[in-house]
Amino acid sequence: MRIFGIVLAAGQGTRMKSKRHKVLHPVCGKPMLGYVVDRLEEVGADRKVVIVGHGADEVKAYLGERAEYALQAEQLGTGHAVLQAASLLGGEEGATIVICGDTPLITAASLEALLTRHRESQAACTIMTAILDDPTGYGRVIRGTDGAVDRIVEHRDCSEEERLVKEINVGTYVFDNRKLFEALGQITSDNAQGEYYLTDAVAILRSRGETVAGVPLDDPDESLGINDRAALAEAERIMRRRIARRHMLAGVTLLDPEHIYIDEDVQIGRDTVIYPGTVLGGKTVIGEDCVIGPNADIRDCTIGDSAAVRHSVLEQSEIAAGVSVGPYAYVRPGNRIGERAKVGSFVEMKNSSLGTGSKVPHLSYVGDADVGQNVNIGCGVITANYDGVRKHRTVIEDEAFIGSNVNLIAPVTVGRGAYVVAGSTITHDVPAEAMAIARERQINKPGYAARLKSRKRQQASAAKPPENT
Ligand code: UD1
Ligand code: CA
Repeated sequence: MRIFGIVLAAGQGTRMKSKRHKVLHPVCGKPMLGYVVDRLEEVGADRKVVIVGHGADEVKAYLGERAEYALQAEQLGTGHAVLQAASLLGGEEGATIVICGDTPLITAASLEALLTRHRESQAACTIMTAILDDPTGYGRVIRGTDGAVDRIVEHRDCSEEERLVKEINVGTYVFDNRKLFEALGQITSDNAQGEYYLTDAVAILRSRGETVAGVPLDDPDESLGINDRAALAEAERIMRRRIARRHMLAGVTLLDPEHIYIDEDVQIGRDTVIYPGTVLGGKTVIGEDCVIGPNADIRDCTIGDSAAVRHSVLEQSEIAAGVSVGPYAYVRPGNRIGERAKVGSFVEMKNSSLGTGSKVPHLSYVGDADVGQNVNIGCGVITANYDGVRKHRTVIEDEAFIGSNVNLIAPVTVGRGAYVVAGSTITHDVPAEAMAIARERQINKPGYAARLKSRKRQQASAAKPPENT
């Protein structure tokens, strides 16, 4: 059987009170719409149509070629929204999953269960439902005496009695594609909101003698529809727990998972230990046997095996195996840190490479620099990469030694094995194996300090007012 997916994403999402379109708000680092489309791909949807309206350009920019699009120029309701896909999907034979773009917690397993039930029951429509302690706001699933679904009534259209029903419509359905579009043609806007409700398709199908099945979710958390920021935070919490659990079951130690924030697309190797206060964002990949945190903020980085990162911020950089970062390092975008290298305390690095075994242990700025292997960079070294107009590169070749508090005024090259003496300001290239010293010679003035102090004492007593007698 062919499978199609229709994702509803045209609504404004007014209750988010946001400039950003609702379905593009991230949950654990990924727009909620992304989860929904991922799930459709996982269950093997042959075609996916996203209904766009508000924020259409942003939605298309995010999903690109992953989906087809149907524009709902005016948001006249969920039924009207699905109808916009008629020109694309109307002629197809198969099962169509309709899903809201604002329900990111639905799992592929639950969609599979829905599809299976749909096939087995030969229903025209199979509805995903959830039993909630507090069903406020959701459409209620009204079942007949035979247990089959009769109709769905929106919260606002419910009678007192219907409001007591705890089984709700999640907003995810599988329809026989042909029957769906036939039923949609008959929907009216005769309800509390004056909208064309997709949910009315259920009663229409029933009146035609079709079967409508309802499958409750095992885990009602999956039903969470995100309408405001409170629900967004709730979804984030649930998703975060799921992600943490997935990593723990795969062999990652998380000390206090409630205080570790891992984005959906992050990968972590076995036997890595993660301490609290750690944020792993974007497409970060971490190897095996690493120690990460406490308080590591790592985004879009690749980190090799057996690395350690403590109390540091790392962005868009590649960190090889065995590297030690921090405490208190800032690794800005564009760095490549070689094996067993060290980026120590209060070190800032940007757009630079650091070769295998090289060390920047403390209080340095390394920007726009190419540092070779086994280089030692002393305390307080600065690459002066910016002349106020342009950025320039510093090259430090293998085995070089840069003494403490050296300024390297770029563009400049320190050759292989060269020594730069502490306190030097280097403005010219240093040849390989040379020693560079670029500072004022020291002058000692014997006895000068003692003379200075006695002069100060004399001045102080002269300035004193005469004593009162
Ligand atoms: C809908 C269901 C309700 C269900 C709930 C689950 C209807 C009539 N009601 O209500 O039974 O319990 O979802 O979360 O279907 N959208 C469009 N175009 C429109 C209107 C909505 O694309 O004209 C999209 C929205 O962007 C959103 C989705 O459809 O992604 C659901 O719309 P929303 O307004 O949130 O529906 P609910 O009132 O929550
Ligand atoms: Ca909703």
